[in-house]
Amino acid sequence: MRHWTCYGLQVLMVAALFGVPNFASAAPPPSWAYPLVDPSVPPPVDDGKPLTTPDSKQSFRVTELLDQFHAVDWYPEEHPKMPVAVATGHQPDQRACGYCHLSDGQGRPENASLAGLSADYIIQQVEDYKSGERRSLRADASPHARMLATSKAISESELTQAAAYFAAIPFKQRFKVVEADTIPKSEIMTGSIWGKAEAGGTEELGHRIIEVTDERSSALLRDSHGQFTAYVPYGSIVRGLVLATTGGANKTLPCGSCHGVGLKGGGNAGPPLAGRSATYMVRQLMDMKAGTRAGANSGLMKPVVANLDDDDIIGLAAYAASLPPK
Ligand code: HEC
Ligand code: HEC
Repeated sequence: MRHWTCYGLQVLMVAALFGVPNFASAAPPPSWAYPLVDPSVPPPVDDGKPLTTPDSKQSFRVTELLDQFHAVDWYPEEHPKMPVAVATGHQPDQRACGYCHLSDGQGRPENASLAGLSADYIIQQVEDYKSGERRSLRADASPHARMLATSKAISESELTQAAAYFAAIPFKQRFKVVEADTIPKSEIMTGSIWGKAEAGGTEELGHRIIEVTDERSSALLRDSHGQFTAYVPYGSIVRGLVLATTGGANKTLPCGSCHGVGLKGGGNAGPPLAGRSATYMVRQLMDMKAGTRAGANSGLMKPVVANLDDDDIIGLAAYAASLPPK
């Protein structure tokens, strides 16, 4: 149970007086789920050498990898031709979707996988960011702030093309889930990605999910063949399974009625959840519970998240991430 501090009480009173969206938790969002860029980690330096990945014939320099108006395309043969919005976007605010979400939309834990979502869902989400109804509890995190700027800058026709492009690409499972109590010591690498600490060592996981890149190099190279491991506490997957399938004695609603069999996506605007990044899903459940994500269709999730505590959220995200997407 969380302690009701004076500050928490004040927030509740203000919320009651002014109808501020349900500030369910006055505690700051947990940094394991909402990593911020660590200013002490220097960005990679371009020494002029072309970089390569094991599976690709392409090569790019560091400057190209860091260019927000250029999506590095390691595997052009694996996806249709990128529309302009995905490949380059437009200066000054419409960054290339593929820079963050990767050229084939497979995504990374700090943003979202777009491959395999429906075009209608993608368009609605970008409109919710643009209108201000969808906000992260950490709207100051730089990837999120730049997503918001991009949503305001993109034209309707470019958004339609980008949405159709990502919807046509099958989502691949790259986010493994492993139950553990002791995990490799982890740190924020460049950007907001968790990696195993270069100095080695171990640490206690506690009540967290730490989702790390399996290879530091593949995250630095924005390689969509790169894999991630989400370390989750022992027992999380079963806890999530029980809640997801039964609703846990009226604690929540069974997820399959909207998110489909095996959480592969359903009617009722419920997007696919199976195999997606666990920390991405934790953030969404926390954002919806706090009311900062309140888009056109988020109301359906309100009764689902209202009574979940942090361990329930960890369990549900761990369970959904562990399911095969196909
Ligand atoms: C600077 C990085 C960045 C760029 C560029 C970017 N996004 Fe995003 N996007 C994000 C982040 C970060 C999130 C997750 C934000 C959150 O937690 O709400 C996100 C989330 C989304 C979502 C929500 C996915 C879901 O499952 O609900 C959609 C849809 C989306 N982006 C579409 C786009 C499109 C289309 C473009 C190009 C026009 C784009 N993004 C460009 C960073 C970016
Ligand atoms: C009554 C229908 C309904 C039920 C039941 C439901 N969901 Fe949802 N869920 C939705 C809709 C609709 C959205 C999209 C919300 C939006 O557009 O903002 C959503 C979005 C989500 C998201 C964010 C996905 C993304 O791509 O950003 C997660 C995570 C999620 N639900 C998890 C769950 C879990 C876990 C359960 C069961 C415990 C559940 N949902 C039950 C309808 C439902």
